[in-house]
Amino acid sequence: MNKNTETKQRGKLEIIAGSMFSGKTEELMRRLKRAEYAKQQVLTIKHHIDKRYTQDHMCIVSHAGRERGAFVIADDAQGFEKILELAQSDVEVIGIDEVQFFSTPIIEVIQYLVEHGKRVIAAGLDLDFRGEPFSVMPTLLALADDVTKLKAICVVCGRDAQHTQRMVNGQPAKYNDPLILVGAAECYEARCRNCFVMEKPAKVLPHTATKSMCECAS
Ligand code: TMP
Ligand code: MG
Ligand code: ZN
Repeated sequence: MNKNTETKQRGKLEIIAGSMFSGKTEELMRRLKRAEYAKQQVLTIKHHIDKRYTQDHMCIVSHAGRERGAFVIADDAQGFEKILELAQSDVEVIGIDEVQFFSTPIIEVIQYLVEHGKRVIAAGLDLDFRGEPFSVMPTLLALADDVTKLKAICVVCGRDAQHTQRMVNGQPAKYNDPLILVGAAECYEARCRNCFVMEKPAKVLPHTATKSMCECAS
């Protein structure tokens, strides 16, 4: 073993993924609390967009109403700089909620923190309302040391739900609706694969292959 590998302690990346109402923020808060019980220095971060459930926006809040103080970070160069500044010195654990709202430089910031010995725990939606991978999440899931995929309960049938259904005036949202719409139970529902409704544009699969699969299924 050379001297470098002896001395350089790398950190760890943990991702908590899943649909809305699956308990991601609760799980993030649980892990951060445990670290605090162990007298570790914890830094909690949230994206500035998410203003649900709080007046002063200085905390992360679960759907169940539990809160935890957090630094609100802008999704720009200053914001990323701020994360690195806050995470300096004795901070050992960094919790990031709603990580899917951050743009791609957050990946580099997280990798830097992990390279420099920090335990980073990031919670975020793995799928958007279209049922497609959400922004930075696929990359973070690939880079993670540890992935937890939580499921909610489908509001329609009660099975495990991995999708988030956006509702607009009581109807499923359209594929071309905007990606970002901050909200909670007033416009989103957890749904299983069977109950999730989304009309996707033209199929990319070869027609012959899908045709034979349909025939097998019927
Ligand atoms: P949650 O994961 O804590 O439940 O919060 C997810 C947030 O993301 C919530 O404000 C709604 C928002 N959101 C979008 O902006 N676009 C989407 O496609 C989905 C599914 C959620
Ligand atoms: Mg949450
Ligand atoms: Zn269902």
